[in-house]
Amino acid sequence: MKIRNLESNDWKKVITLWNQTLWADKIYEDLFIQKFLLEPNFDRNGFFVAEENGELKGAAISFCRVFDQPWGYEGLTAQQLDKGFLVPLLIKETPEGIELGRTLLEKAESYLKGKGRKTVSVCEYNPLFCINGVDRNIYPGIHALFTENGYTESRVSYSMKADLNKFKISDEILEIISSLERENITFIQYSPDEMLRIREFFMKEFPRFMGHFTYKIITKAPAEEMLFVKQGEEIVGYCQYNYYGQPDRVGPFGVASSMRSKKLGQAMVAKLLERITCRGFQTAYFLSCRDELRHFYGKNGFEVFKGKSIFEKQI
Ligand SMILES: CC(C)(COP(=O)(O)OP(=O)(O)OC[C@H]1O[C@@H](n2cnc3c(N)ncnc32)[C@H](O)[C@@H]1OP(=O)(O)O)[C@@H](O)C(=O)NCCC(=O)NCCS
Repeated sequence: MKIRNLESNDWKKVITLWNQTLWADKIYEDLFIQKFLLEPNFDRNGFFVAEENGELKGAAISFCRVFDQPWGYEGLTAQQLDKGFLVPLLIKETPEGIELGRTLLEKAESYLKGKGRKTVSVCEYNPLFCINGVDRNIYPGIHALFTENGYTESRVSYSMKADLNKFKISDEILEIISSLERENITFIQYSPDEMLRIREFFMKEFPRFMGHFTYKIITKAPAEEMLFVKQGEEIVGYCQYNYYGQPDRVGPFGVASSMRSKKLGQAMVAKLLERITCRGFQTAYFLSCRDELRHFYGKNGFEVFKGKSIFEKQI
């Protein structure tokens, strides 16, 4: 078995390995290219593969945050100079696979140490939302490997989905929507006429959402995929569906800080779900939210389908 860095011809084999090992979080070619090969912080020196007889047996993908995301609106890099990131290991949950995982983990940690990182996170780096932690029920072997090697769970990230078969906005939320409308609140789809107001809203409240929104605009996404909330002329909320080509994936959701706790968020979620049922969707899901937001999304019928441990370790 040889452990080496990723080479050009490996990428399709990595996707095959990913789908065998992280089988409940499958990846496809476009997403792999977008999330890894095009990721500004990707570094093949932190991407280790274990090869035997031309076959990939395992991989560890680690990287440092050196650049902001495309569009540069996040501005988080400076806060993450001490931290390195690691995708859950691509290993089989057999004794040999776990043993290989230990070796790959050491390689990744020593790469990150060499880059001056003091902690490793698996994996709090938001743009990689294809898999940001390890579900202990789905991957018990990988989960145990991390805990046995000094990783502690810093939080759990929840994936939730809503069954939209027979969805209609509940009477309680319809009531909320009526009372919001009396306060001059409206729900609109994207229009270029709103661009300056949209920009101001994102830059002030959610700079990170600007990347998601820009992607929609440059890929000419249908306007109805982007839902804005206005109070009078001002934009006070945003959400979207079709997340980077995953049609029934929804989010992010955001309400202006001055407008929170007025039930506007749950009204906005309901409006988005109603909109996608009109397109014939039977489900909606998202991959990550914090514990305290489970209740918020539950108001519109979302239920947890994965709970992923976000691990951290001092190195
Ligand atoms: C999450 C968010 C959209 C909620 O919008 P909101 O208009 O403040 O929420 P609502 O007033 O509709 O709240 C509905 C329910 O969820 C609960 N809730 C909302 N936000 C909550 C939070 N951050 N923590 C705990 N509970 C929350 C409310 O208490 C309320 O419960 P109740 O009806 O039992 O009293 C808003 O807080 C926000 O934009 N946060 C920052 C961005 C974010 O975290 N987005 C989600 C991840 S993409």
